[in-house]
Amino acid sequence: MLNAVGQAQHILVLGGTSEIGLAIAQELTSRGGNPVVTLAARENSPRIDAAAETLRGAGASQIRLVNFDALDFDSHPAVIDAAFAEQDVDVAVVAFGTLGDQEELWQNQAKAVASAQTNYTAPVSVGVLLGQAMRKQGHGTIIAMSSVAGTKVRRSNFVYGSAKAGMDGFYLQLGEALRKDGVKVTVVRPGQVRTKMTAGMKEAPLTVNKEDVAEAAVDAALKGERFVFVHKLFWPVSVALQLIPAPIMRKLSF
Ligand SMILES: NC(=O)c1ccc[n+]([C@@H]2O[C@H](COP(=O)([O-])OP(=O)(O)OC[C@H]3O[C@@H](n4cnc5c(N)ncnc54)[C@H](OP(=O)(O)O)[C@@H]3O)[C@@H](O)[C@H]2O)c1
Repeated sequence: MLNAVGQAQHILVLGGTSEIGLAIAQELTSRGGNPVVTLAARENSPRIDAAAETLRGAGASQIRLVNFDALDFDSHPAVIDAAFAEQDVDVAVVAFGTLGDQEELWQNQAKAVASAQTNYTAPVSVGVLLGQAMRKQGHGTIIAMSSVAGTKVRRSNFVYGSAKAGMDGFYLQLGEALRKDGVKVTVVRPGQVRTKMTAGMKEAPLTVNKEDVAEAAVDAALKGERFVFVHKLFWPVSVALQLIPAPIMRKLSF
């Protein structure tokens, strides 16, 4: 069980090579308890060995690997069964995702579908399964990686943003549905984060590091918060953006 100072016995990272997912697992591991960490990642990812090494270095007592392809929906029940088979999962981090070329995505049907499936359908698929598995064990915390891109869907990234809006709403209400079962859900909404997902992109205002996301996510989860904007200014900014009329939004460059 995740205790009051953030120590867990078993952490599951879905998207086990995600820089943010790993930073959250590291943040939890740094709080002590030498947890077991299960990395659910594509078995052909070139980043698995480095991810496991990072967590061993942070104090994980054991690294387990589970083959996970977000787009292979039929395999998800077996993935979650495998993750929960040997011991309860205290914290599950839903961290996989793709950004892609947003101008290409809205004009390319196959790529838009793949983006929507990775960023919305797959988080729903694993969310349902995590919810049922944690409900059965009677405890658990889900940390779901959303984005400010989902709080106001904008012209500049609306394929990605609309999927994040959907998964954000799904996980917020999954938390409500599981409340009486002792399962908590925290939705994490950073703006731009310095990871490989954004490498080479122009840096947006209020960009943060993955360690900032990890600290905010773990603190919010421990406080039982339903959501957290990693940079505090993004909450008022998101509210203000809802009020800006479309003709004015059209003139803004983001
Ligand atoms: N970076 C940002 O600016 C930012 C901002 C807000 C929210 N977020 C969200 O935070 C989460 C983590 O992002 P990040 O910055 O840590 O990005 P990242 O380092 O690029 O990690 C994304 C991970 O998703 C995995 N993935 C992609 N498609 C997959 C699939 N079909 N099956 C299984 N795994 C798949 C990739 O695994 P492989 O190793 O196999 O490629 C990759 O390691 C994402 O949901 C992202 O949308 C990121």
